Amino acid sequence: MKYKLLRGFTDVFPDEYLKRQDIFDKFRTIFELFGYSQIDTPIVESTNLFVRSIGAFSEIVKKQMLTFKDKSNRSLSLRPEATASVARAYIENDFLRTKKFVKWFYIGPMFRNERPQAGRRRQFYQLGIEAIGSKSPYLDAEVISLLCALLEVINIPDYKLKLNTLGCIKDKSRITYEYEKLLKDKIGNFCQDCQERFKFNILRIFDCKNSECKNQLKSIPPIIKYLCTDCIEHYEKVKKALSDLEIKFEQDSNIVRGLDYYDKTVFEVIHPELGAKSAIGAGGRYDNLIKDMGGPEIGACGFALGLERIISIVSDNLNPKFSLDIYIVTLGEESYNSGFKLLNNLRRQEISADIDYEGRSLKSQMRQANKVGAKFVVIIGEDELKNNKITLRDMSKNKQSQLEMDNFVEKMKEILKII
Ligand code: HAM
Repeated sequence: MKYKLLRGFTDVFPDEYLKRQDIFDKFRTIFELFGYSQIDTPIVESTNLFVRSIGAFSEIVKKQMLTFKDKSNRSLSLRPEATASVARAYIENDFLRTKKFVKWFYIGPMFRNERPQAGRRRQFYQLGIEAIGSKSPYLDAEVISLLCALLEVINIPDYKLKLNTLGCIKDKSRITYEYEKLLKDKIGNFCQDCQERFKFNILRIFDCKNSECKNQLKSIPPIIKYLCTDCIEHYEKVKKALSDLEIKFEQDSNIVRGLDYYDKTVFEVIHPELGAKSAIGAGGRYDNLIKDMGGPEIGACGFALGLERIISIVSDNLNPKFSLDIYIVTLGEESYNSGFKLLNNLRRQEISADIDYEGRSLKSQMRQANKVGAKFVVIIGEDELKNNKITLRDMSKNKQSQLEMDNFVEKMKEILKII
């Protein structure tokens, strides 16, 4: 083979795409039920946008961005996530003035140059939401309850929701200072990555999966011990609202997230089939991002779910079949001509229809009709042509009848309305 797919990328063929479509349709209904409307941002943005928002020392920016120079020597990157782009779009289009509070959802491909492995791709789809313009703890609860509703609608009941709080921006700098003091003499016992994190992003040490690092952290007080009263109150209100909605969650002080823009509430959803390292989805509050990017000080909260990870869990339950109303079976050239005209008339009346283009035998055309899941087969043979009739076969009932050719399309519309 001369040309090959790049590692970490996939071709999505119709059978798989129908599964995706099934999820998109179900999710869209839920998004709209919660008052979110769809937005699309470009897949390419200025590299600086991601460096500034996700953080220069985050794994994503340091190791995983697909960055390139364009002809004007500008540094551009394929988006590794969408929150930064949505925030940029909010600020750039002055939504604060026209419509302060927005609730948006998005569905689209993201790119991270990670080492490809199960559940980790270089191009993957995210389905996410961003609610911008409120600091209310009820919004955190709404965002999380929406995430749970999405998992319910596709029948993933056995997930675990992990919740934590990182405190406000002031808390974060105080916590960093406190942890630097506490860890400075011990850091030599931590892994190489944690020694780096100590210098640039100390909270990420809590996210380390290395058992020795975990062990060392046992004697260190959790983040919540250092939070201001406002942030504790916010967290308590979020937990109370979630409990009122009967949403089960587990508090986990090691959830710190790999993107720098978060503050206050953060959460991750894990599933036994994927293990603790690969979340199905995650998100949190980011009250400082918009201001940090040159906009107003305005609260925001959101999450994103990974489509491929979801499909790997529910793939067997999703079986949407390609559905075709009519497959036209013909015998000979004159009959094909007549069938081809009928095909067009059916489609004009919004009846989905198809015909053979490979010169198949009658038997093989019938087999094809079955394969594509046609509800009805229209047979136009010599006799039918002579008598100006059509033989209609109901594939689910295995029954055949003859109808007049002249008003067939009208008749078919009625039949399809009834079934
Ligand atoms: P994230 O945790 O980086 O958060 O990604 C969210 C989800 O995207 C993950 O839980 C996972 O399901 C999926 N995902 C991430 N990387 C990969 C990959 N390499 N292959 C397959 N799936 C992947 C964010 O992106 C934030 N923007 C979420 C957010 C929205 N926070 C606030 N608003």
